Amino acid sequence: MRMPMIAGNWKLHKTRAEARDLIEGLKSQLEGLTGVEVVVAPPFTALETAAASLAGSAIQLAAQNCYPETTGAFTGEVSPLLLKDAGCRYVIVGHSERRQLLGESDEFINRKVHALSQAALGIIFCIGETLDEREADQMFDVLRRQVRLGLKGVTPDIMKDVVVAYEPVWAIGTGKTATDAQAQEAHAFVRALLREQLGQAAADATRILYGGSVKSGNVDGLMAQPDVDGALVGGASLKAEEFARVACFQTV
Ligand code: PGA
Repeated sequence: MRMPMIAGNWKLHKTRAEARDLIEGLKSQLEGLTGVEVVVAPPFTALETAAASLAGSAIQLAAQNCYPETTGAFTGEVSPLLLKDAGCRYVIVGHSERRQLLGESDEFINRKVHALSQAALGIIFCIGETLDEREADQMFDVLRRQVRLGLKGVTPDIMKDVVVAYEPVWAIGTGKTATDAQAQEAHAFVRALLREQLGQAAADATRILYGGSVKSGNVDGLMAQPDVDGALVGGASLKAEEFARVACFQTV
């Protein structure tokens, strides 16, 4: 009952011409694919080009970040309204690279969640523990804090627009994927947190994506886990053939 989502986070990659090529490749490789929602998240500068290439296709467009205000004196920032205007359906918030490199707090991420909800945009809300936190047995505490504070004030109605992405920081860009069992354990825990905070129906309906070195060689096992509803894919989303194979995952 949860439609799987495979989302490609391009990070700081792709000029406009490269974005167009990648999307054209994806469109031809994914033609006719049903039963999975495919999303691409190019850098801001390629969003308009990507939206034009995606016109008429089922692939959805996402941005990688936003600022939680609509307009105003916020030099260098981009609002949900502008992203919607550029053709976005979703926005990624709380990615670990922004938490770690840009110092984004749970409170700031929570403001983005509410701003996006007000703009009627879908939200891909990222959480995940670092290696130090996992080794210090703090994984569950970290996930609990990120969900409590990041989704503070979120009602079951707002939650309909939220997709959670569990991305253990130690697995991002390292080639070191969580095992299927590690992913399932964390996802089941996150779903239990959602149940406590939002109730059974919202927890059951929320898609929880796994992220961290997902590629064609490991997606099938991850997607076979009962609480893994999709993937947020970095490196393996930059080539059409590889990302298309991830989107065409097989579960047995
Ligand atoms: P990766 O990135 O697939 O390159 O590990 C995932 C992400 O950061 O979303």
